[in-house]
Amino acid sequence: MRPRLVDPFDRAIEYLRLSVTDRCDLRCSYCLPKGFDGFAEPEAWLRFDEIERLVGAFVRLGVRRVRITGGEPLVRRNLPELAARLAALPGLEDLSLSTNAVRLARLAAPLRAAGIRRLNVSLDSLDPGRYAAITGGGKLAKVLAGLEAARAAGFDPIKINMVVMRGVNDDEVERMVEFCAAGGYTLRLIETMPMGATGQAASRRYVSLDEVRRRLAARYELLPATMPGGGPARYVQLAGTGLRIGFITPISQHFCATCNRVRLSAEGVCYLCLGQEHSYDFRRLLRAGASDAELEAAVREAIARKPERHHFRERPGQVVRFMSQTGG
Ligand code: GTP
Ligand code: 5AD
Ligand code: SF4
Repeated sequence: MRPRLVDPFDRAIEYLRLSVTDRCDLRCSYCLPKGFDGFAEPEAWLRFDEIERLVGAFVRLGVRRVRITGGEPLVRRNLPELAARLAALPGLEDLSLSTNAVRLARLAAPLRAAGIRRLNVSLDSLDPGRYAAITGGGKLAKVLAGLEAARAAGFDPIKINMVVMRGVNDDEVERMVEFCAAGGYTLRLIETMPMGATGQAASRRYVSLDEVRRRLAARYELLPATMPGGGPARYVQLAGTGLRIGFITPISQHFCATCNRVRLSAEGVCYLCLGQEHSYDFRRLLRAGASDAELEAAVREAIARKPERHHFRERPGQVVRFMSQTGG
């Protein structure tokens, strides 16, 4: 029988989101302030051997999915080497990656060969000017080339994450639906969360996905659907097509009761909830020469600190971390 890692609210924790850097090569308006350079120094990041040991402890205790995140994970040098080391961990069933795809054209094939199977790509607009405005200068053509390379490399599924913002890209949902249907991608719509000062400012542009769903239902026939993955999205399928659309609704309908995940920052701090400050510092332990048994005991101690839920709605000013510090 596979071991279970259970939190104080009786939720089995089986999904680890692993940030490999807090840096990013974009400056999305809802994530990082323009000109932000308060990143951690690379010496502070866990090394590959440290990550492998720590993730190994999580997996032995019951984690079976790992998603590599950032910041932007492709900024981390030699990422395919790390991916291959993680893919080889006994008991790990699902290794995936969330990326902005700017550097994916070159890295898709080596990452797929290393054992990553599923890919989620952030893409909020298909208009080059708008894309540049939202991302602080990003080049849409690079992302599109990255997506093509990912398809050619055999990633399956490839999900496109679109944060829907009023007056910014909410008029583009239908265009994105057509793009994903044509390209064989899964579309996921996301509600803006008040993470950090930028996320709080962007929350003024919050759109409830209930509204978007009604709009889509008026135009397309939507059937209930499911999708491989362990995240909080709820899916529908467009009748007569293979296209699935996922709705991620942390604000209008939070999904904390079924939360199955914790996050590990690039510096080795485990954050127990995206919307709360509860954390556990593993780097200190790793660098103090902790044994595997001590690491496992520490993982259990960390999980025991997991809070019940976020309070994005009740206390939108509470969260101080930027999304890039926690890893999406
Ligand atoms: P799969 O379902 O396994 O494909 O992945 P995922 O949807 O969990 O991962 P992804 O990195 O694509 O995240 C998509 C969006 O969901 C991001 O905006 C995340 O911040 C948000 N999200 C993921 N996990 C959580 C969570 O535990 N809580 C909240 N509030 N939002 C989350
Ligand atoms: N609210 C909602 N989603 C966000 N992301 C980053 N910042 C926010 C925010 N404030 C999304 C990115 C990416 C995913 C990992 O997190 O667009 O798709
Ligand atoms: Fe889990 Fe926290 Fe996300 Fe709620 S906000 S689903 S408790 S990580």
